[in-house]
Amino acid sequence: MLSVDPIRWPLEAIWQTVEPHLPGFTCEALPTIDSTNTELMRRFKAGQPEPTLLVAEQQSAGRGRLGRQWHSQRGDSLMFSLGMPLAPADWSGLSLAVGVSLAESLDAANAPAHHIGLKWPNDLWLVTKHPHAMDERKLGGILVETATFEGTRYLVIGVGINVRALDVPLQESTAVAPTCLQNLQPDADVASTLLRVLPPLVQTVQAFEQFGFAPFQARFARRDVLAGRDVQLSDGTQGQAHGVTESGALLVHTAGGMKDITSSEVSVRPVTGHVPPGDMRPC
Ligand code: BTN
Repeated sequence: MLSVDPIRWPLEAIWQTVEPHLPGFTCEALPTIDSTNTELMRRFKAGQPEPTLLVAEQQSAGRGRLGRQWHSQRGDSLMFSLGMPLAPADWSGLSLAVGVSLAESLDAANAPAHHIGLKWPNDLWLVTKHPHAMDERKLGGILVETATFEGTRYLVIGVGINVRALDVPLQESTAVAPTCLQNLQPDADVASTLLRVLPPLVQTVQAFEQFGFAPFQARFARRDVLAGRDVQLSDGTQGQAHGVTESGALLVHTAGGMKDITSSEVSVRPVTGHVPPGDMRPC
């Protein structure tokens, strides 16, 4: 029988950092589950509204946006969900603020040719500058869901980040092969990545609850991979992306004028193609 090294999740360190700011916070790691988002929603509906981090080594029914699937092998992708009650005055732009937080945590100061970009509404991209070209690929995705039960609104933020080269079918939402964090940080693994992103993510969600999306707008703009590009919406509309509004809507200049795109049912693809991978490892 094949033995596998246990993943040493840094749950104690995460708990020590987060709990003083989020009383009642618990962390749990599971070897396998259908979906960490689905499990936290089940628990909430069964009367457990506590703030919880749930990380899984494997998911049998991982979910992405728009009903897509999220596939990964053990140790290849970091898959976790953060659930907590939240009561912001306005929920608009939350998933964009989450993307800003993750991108800022993952960026590496010592890798000037790379940066983490954000593709509205909630994809993380790894952008690599080559001497004559740019390579852009999906690095991860965010699935934000909420449910209300007995007057409490519970938020579940699901995050999938490709850390190690993937050996799975292409994510349906990705036109080109996704990339992985090890292209940016060769020593990255799922456990250390969780420790890097989780405490700042909790702070971000708490800041969002108080101040909304407005303070994140400029930070999103610095990483907005669609800005100034020709885009196509899933309803066929074409136009040019012009950044995001104070409430996180995507501005698209179409033949019919400027449109605010807010629907989570809309997917957006850049019309201008990406450059085929040069010397990057396939992920
Ligand atoms: C997307 O790219 O469409 C979002 C992908 C989100 C995947 C993560 S993995 C952990 C959590 N559990 C899920 O079932 N989905 C999210």
